[in-house]
Amino acid sequence: MCYALLKTLHLLGVVLLVGNVIVTLVWKLAADRSGDPRVVAFGQRLVTLTDWWFTVGGVVLILLGGVGVALVAGLDLLAVRWLLWGQVLFGLSGLLWVGILIPAQIRQARQARDFAAGGEIPANYWRDARRWTWWGILAIVPLLGALWLMIAKPA
Ligand code: HEM
Repeated sequence: MCYALLKTLHLLGVVLLVGNVIVTLVWKLAADRSGDPRVVAFGQRLVTLTDWWFTVGGVVLILLGGVGVALVAGLDLLAVRWLLWGQVLFGLSGLLWVGILIPAQIRQARQARDFAAGGEIPANYWRDARRWTWWGILAIVPLLGALWLMIAKPA
């Protein structure tokens, strides 16, 4: 019962995190491509909002559920290879997120507040948008790797 509950929380976290990072990338690109400052600024506001709810929420559920289910199932977090490498990939994605994506998002959100009413979108907003897109795609790869490891559980 406890095992099933923790695993459900873990998987809910995975759905929220992986789903949010992939889907956000798609609709943020579409908002940016509109070129309309109001649409771009609205998209940027939603990136911040959905990040708090779904990315942070997903990470918390993955950690609580994942560590909890490992304890209940008697799996050593550091000795079971697929589990260890899953955590390493999860951490790598987190580092890219905290080190590159979040700072770019904060800069963009600040600029978006200025042009939200219809002002001109500055060139460095677009520079950060490109940076955010490519590093965002790169940060998804380790998450997909962790997903595969957790399911395949190679020895
Ligand atoms: C702190 C990081 C993580 C820990 C400690 C952790 C721990 C675990 C454990 C112990 C299980 C095995 C449950 C069982 O089948 O008995 C599991 C399953 C699973 N994990 Fe993780 N996990 C972590 C991160 C992730 C990430 C980042 C993903 C995907 C992006 C993920 C996806 C899954 C999936 C899909 C399962 C179900 C596998 C199956 O039932 O065959 N986990 N996780």
